[in-house]
Amino acid sequence: MHAVAIVAAAGSGSRLGADRPKALVELAGRPLVCWAVDGLRAGGVAEVVVTVPAAEREAFAAVLPGDVRIVDGGATRTASVRAGLAAAAAGADVVLVHDAARPLTPPDVVARVLAALAAGAPAVVPVLPVVDTTVLVDDDGAVTEAVPRAPLRRVQTPQGFDRETLVAAYAALPDGAELTDDAAVVRAAGVPVATVAGDERSAKVTVAHDLALAELAVTLGPSGTVTA
Ligand code: CTP
Ligand code: MG
Repeated sequence: MHAVAIVAAAGSGSRLGADRPKALVELAGRPLVCWAVDGLRAGGVAEVVVTVPAAEREAFAAVLPGDVRIVDGGATRTASVRAGLAAAAAGADVVLVHDAARPLTPPDVVARVLAALAAGAPAVVPVLPVVDTTVLVDDDGAVTEAVPRAPLRRVQTPQGFDRETLVAAYAALPDGAELTDDAAVVRAAGVPVATVAGDERSAKVTVAHDLALAELAVTLGPSGTVTA
């Protein structure tokens, strides 16, 4: 099974507020995007395509391994993944779509996603349970009801797809339609989405606090991190 990964790295990172695109911000001395690429490869991905802000191609080329393909992303994550998918090798059997903003995704998670695809799932996402009490509120912020949390899951990346299934689903998505993840794109096309266990270490770096936690996780090493 030939697996290609698309790493979405074309965002600006406005909530992190750094002096450069979020994917180039360093964690323990290395850009987030480099951590993400390494994790995918260690988990069994053969080829990697990284979508970047068009104005930053050179900065990404300077830090990424030479065999990683760099593609201009778009104004939204959906547009960036669409661009990456167009560039992903036609020879690929499966495509994984990952956020550069998830630098510490363990290779085991990548391997679980690939195993589910190898077993025949057309689409698969890593998920975690919801541990907090979860409620609905009205327009004034008052609690209206509690939501049973047993069937709720938080969805992470990398999300894995049969390549042709993902290409067809993106082709069917109207131009300008924005969905929050790629599983939503295939679900809109009627494709069932399976789940495998995610990992707390796959947490997305969104704000400065997340980056501080990721630094701590690297410092502590595997024994000091919390697994789901
Ligand atoms: N992304 C992308 N192209 C975009 C927007 C986002 O490839 N036009 C990528 C980001 O680089 C990131 C991932 O999608 O790796 C998840 O998005 P998010 O965490 O929201 O990152 P940013 O959009 O960069 O951050 P912010 O929303 O705070 O500006
Ligand atoms: Mg964003």
